[in-house]
Amino acid sequence: MKTLVSNIFDSCQSHFDEIVAIRRDIHMHPELEFDVHRTAGIAAEALEGLGVKVRTGVGKTGVVGDIEISGATKRIALRADMDALPMQELGNPSYKSKVDGKAHMCGHDAHTAMLIGAARVISQFKDELKANVRFIFQPSEEKFPGGAPAMMEDGVLEGVDEIYGLHVWPLLEAGQFAICPGPALGQPDVFEVEIKGKGGHAAFPHLAIDPILIGSQFVTVLQSIVARNVDPLESAVISVTQFHGGTTDNVIPPSVKLTGTVRTLKKDIQVSVREKIENVLSGMTSAYGASYNFSYQEGYPVTYNHESCATNAFSIMKMLVDEGNISYPYPPLLGGEDFGYYSQKIPACFIFLGAGNKEKGIVNMCHDPRFDVDEKCMIYGMAMHVSLALSFARD
Ligand code: NI
Repeated sequence: MKTLVSNIFDSCQSHFDEIVAIRRDIHMHPELEFDVHRTAGIAAEALEGLGVKVRTGVGKTGVVGDIEISGATKRIALRADMDALPMQELGNPSYKSKVDGKAHMCGHDAHTAMLIGAARVISQFKDELKANVRFIFQPSEEKFPGGAPAMMEDGVLEGVDEIYGLHVWPLLEAGQFAICPGPALGQPDVFEVEIKGKGGHAAFPHLAIDPILIGSQFVTVLQSIVARNVDPLESAVISVTQFHGGTTDNVIPPSVKLTGTVRTLKKDIQVSVREKIENVLSGMTSAYGASYNFSYQEGYPVTYNHESCATNAFSIMKMLVDEGNISYPYPPLLGGEDFGYYSQKIPACFIFLGAGNKEKGIVNMCHDPRFDVDEKCMIYGMAMHVSLALSFARD
């Protein structure tokens, strides 16, 4: 495998310029949610050119490619997401987004390009494959309910033994990797609250029921849930991100609305936090003689890195880079990913691919309007995909 790895690196290197060109082209033409027709077209065309069996329109606009090896009984899936974000790019690279209000500020352009590159290299090494390989290009990662459930409904995981995905990570330098075994990314839930008091004159609060006071106390007490009800060695966050109420200075409004997010890594904690939020709301409104509406929307499930897949990815990484460039185990994060749906279904591992470069000033986090990647990271990303495929089912 060692010699094979150095051959893989050479081959990834030889495809680098064309993969950079593909990434920049996608970057300049960002598409949102399921509306990724152009990007999906690029992926499908690239796979078809390799003689890979291609299905389009999977999960609305996803693309699935299969390399089948005669006699192989196992199948590995490699996944990339294709969608951009509804935001303005504020950086000024030569390949800046040409579409107003849309930009690849999460690196999904690089994910798509790397998987295309990996498909090219894997095709070159096809004789070395011991397992079937499925390439998954997925739409709508950024927008709930995500593109993964739609693709799963169309059978994208059928016959797949294990699935792997990469995400560019600017907090690590290009040439570095990280894996968080176990629960790796949180479940991002959303709650909406309406507190219904009684409107009135601001100078006669005793004749009104002030929802602003109740709402303010609700926000404060919510923070005690994480501080006092969740085991201090576990993880949870509650953030209230919107608080709307009132129209002028001398009127107590009849109601206020609040929105927020809950992020957790474990189901029992998620269930308990959700329950406590409503308990606080119910107790507090009833104490003041107010009433409430409460809605709670569960987000993507926790992205879970199965021990065997994480260990497998880690041992492959050690062949690609020095161990000093691998963070393992990397701490879990409370961001969400719809890769979580796959990982709840079959053994999976979601890998962080270092994409930053402090010297070049590439330091901005995903979703920052000046986000970018050090494109050199794509060689490592491709090499990781290729090595995962070539080592799969190999004894
Ligand atoms: Ni992303």
